[in-house]
Amino acid sequence: MVLGAALVGGSSGMAVGGATGVDELKHAYRRPVTIPFPADNPYTRDRERLGAMLFFDPRVSGSGWISCATCHNPGLAWGDGLPQAMGHAMQKLSRRTPTILNQAWGDSFFWDGRASSLEAQALGPISAPHEMNQDPTLLVVKLRRMEGYRTLFEIAYPGEGLTTATIAKAIATFERTVVSGIAPFDAWVAGDERAISEQAKRGFLVFNTKARCAACHRGWNFTDGSFHDVGHETSDLGRGALLPRLALMQHAFKTPTLRNVDRRAPYMHNGTLATLRDVVELYDRGGIDRPSRSREIRPLGLAAEDKEALLAFMRTLTSADGPVTVPELPR
Ligand code: HEC
Ligand code: HEC
Repeated sequence: MVLGAALVGGSSGMAVGGATGVDELKHAYRRPVTIPFPADNPYTRDRERLGAMLFFDPRVSGSGWISCATCHNPGLAWGDGLPQAMGHAMQKLSRRTPTILNQAWGDSFFWDGRASSLEAQALGPISAPHEMNQDPTLLVVKLRRMEGYRTLFEIAYPGEGLTTATIAKAIATFERTVVSGIAPFDAWVAGDERAISEQAKRGFLVFNTKARCAACHRGWNFTDGSFHDVGHETSDLGRGALLPRLALMQHAFKTPTLRNVDRRAPYMHNGTLATLRDVVELYDRGGIDRPSRSREIRPLGLAAEDKEALLAFMRTLTSADGPVTVPELPR
């Protein structure tokens, strides 16, 4: 994870070299160099620091026990390792906790895309009765009573004060700095041929050709930011609940990033696939043939070594990020 400076990594000098197919493909997977921040909430170090405190502070919840990090745990690739999230008073939520890695590049949030910015998203889990169960207006009162928070808000958002809007802005700023670090795959894209195995390189090709994965898991963050029904068993309509007339949106969910994916089992919006191997088997079978299923999904007929190669490739997307220090919380 890169905290602090709005720099994502230094892998700019890649070897494009000859015009082989693989080199061209690799080009499409180069990491960006900076993190995008919106014009109405630009990055400052103070905003990031304040947002980190709020993210890790259980006092933000109604019970005083649950923080964002309870479910988005840095030690579990910013997820919770559960098939379905556990919220206020141990209530089981209907969906799995997605990672918050690389959300700075997202343009809609939640599995069904119902929030259009991180700022808009942040107050959702705070107020949801089954998540953090906290009335945002009461939260403002609670935080204003703490001198430490009052001062930090004044420094981070001078003149704007401590409001639900600045709480959301600070949290969103912190979230944008949560970026997956340089993985072996990135080193290979940048020109180090020995960074990943020959099997993983073959997996990258299978991913981009025969297995069609890159139709949706595109670019350095391995997502098109769009919604698809991949034929996975579920009773959840996903984006279809928001767009009931669009046949292709029934059971459609946002394409998740594949960064650090081997650290985030179990998989899919409902956490019902235990391993990456199970996910590959689903795609190989082509999932459930129903009217909403994406046109990109169909039986693939992958050979055993194709599947192994895909798995080896996906494991190269994991970065060795250092431990995250939980900030000292204000009083
Ligand atoms: C009880 C567990 C829980 C807590 C606490 C929680 N979240 Fe989440 N978070 C989830 C689940 C589950 C989803 C997916 C919900 C959905 O898609 O309907 C989610 C989705 C998100 C997303 C969208 C990610 C994406 O891929 O679109 C972001 C961002 C996020 N949470 C940030 C936060 C922040 C910030 C907090 C604290 C203010 C927080 N969460 C607290 C469980 C939790
Ligand atoms: C039609 C678009 C599409 C294609 C093609 C596709 N995926 Fe996905 N992928 C998705 C969506 C959408 C989800 C989430 C589905 C859900 O939760 O029901 C997903 C989920 C996953 C997950 C689980 C990630 C997580 O955090 O839960 C993995 C791993 C994955 N895909 C890998 C692959 C591989 C490997 C291929 C090629 C064999 C592939 N995908 C092809 C769209 C696609």
